Amino acid sequence: MDLGSSRGHGDGGRCRGGVVWTSKQIEVGMLPGTGRMAKALAKHFCRAGLHVLVGSRDPSKAEVVATSLNHHLHEDVSGSATFLGSSSTSLMPMGTAVGLPNRDVASRAQIIVWSPRGTLEERASLLKELAPHLHGKIIVDVSNIGYCIDEAEWGQSSSTLFNQAALGVDARWTTAFKATFAHVLENGGHEGRVESTIVCGDDADAVKTTIALVETVPGFVGIHGGGLKNTKILELLGPPWLIELDKLNAHGSHSSGWHYVT
Ligand SMILES: NC(=O)c1ccc[n+]([C@@H]2O[C@H](COP(=O)([O-])OP(=O)(O)OC[C@H]3O[C@@H](n4cnc5c(N)ncnc54)[C@H](OP(=O)(O)O)[C@@H]3O)[C@@H](O)[C@H]2O)c1
Repeated sequence: MDLGSSRGHGDGGRCRGGVVWTSKQIEVGMLPGTGRMAKALAKHFCRAGLHVLVGSRDPSKAEVVATSLNHHLHEDVSGSATFLGSSSTSLMPMGTAVGLPNRDVASRAQIIVWSPRGTLEERASLLKELAPHLHGKIIVDVSNIGYCIDEAEWGQSSSTLFNQAALGVDARWTTAFKATFAHVLENGGHEGRVESTIVCGDDADAVKTTIALVETVPGFVGIHGGGLKNTKILELLGPPWLIELDKLNAHGSHSSGWHYVT
């Protein structure tokens, strides 16, 4: 798959992580696109000029999310135009969002962002249903299944390795944002900090493309964390830690929303 991974800005594309996102119609598929993580990421991707396909088990829900996303992006552009005293509403080449059933997103998108909830069985069943459309594609796994601390049952497996096995066809899995709170993506405001997320993957081009995708989000850098075998360690950095922080710091007044799925 050619995502315009040449270096330089010759065609007016945006350079991120050594990859140039060209003006070609790159479509990033959010499976699903209706959850907190997916909606926050989709907004950043569109702002960076990428086109986003919002998936859902319920197409009408996907359409509502896509319409709302386009509305907010239009407001962003209009706001910039007013601020700069320009009548133009196309100062930045924004992407757009389209709502579709999960299956159509899987078949159309060049890159997939995987972020469902549900039980292990429900996630595996969704992957099997979509497998005919995902062969060879880059799938960026944002999801977590909080079983991973149970060594006795799961050994060195991870959510990503579970997903890869459940899909049952070759795809180029990578990881991103697994240990990033949704509100960090929603609210921005990093107070000058650089936010990082670890990108694991067994396919060099998929890792490079994923890092470029990560770096379309303002303030974020993607750090290569080795192959998919490292995803168990990566996942251990996230949910258990955050659940503990909820208990220790929030005094019952706040929850990160993390919980274990068994
Ligand atoms: N929230 C965070 O801070 C955070 C941070 C890092 C990683 N994560 C991980 O990212 C994933 C998404 O988190 P989120 O907070 O965005 O979740 P969310 O807001 O609950 O949304 C997840 C989406 O999953 C779909 N879904 C729900 N139940 C399902 C089922 N039984 N089968 C198939 N699809 C189902 C729904 O889409 P439709 O109903 O439209 O199909 C829903 O919109 C999770 O795996 C989570 O562990 C979350």
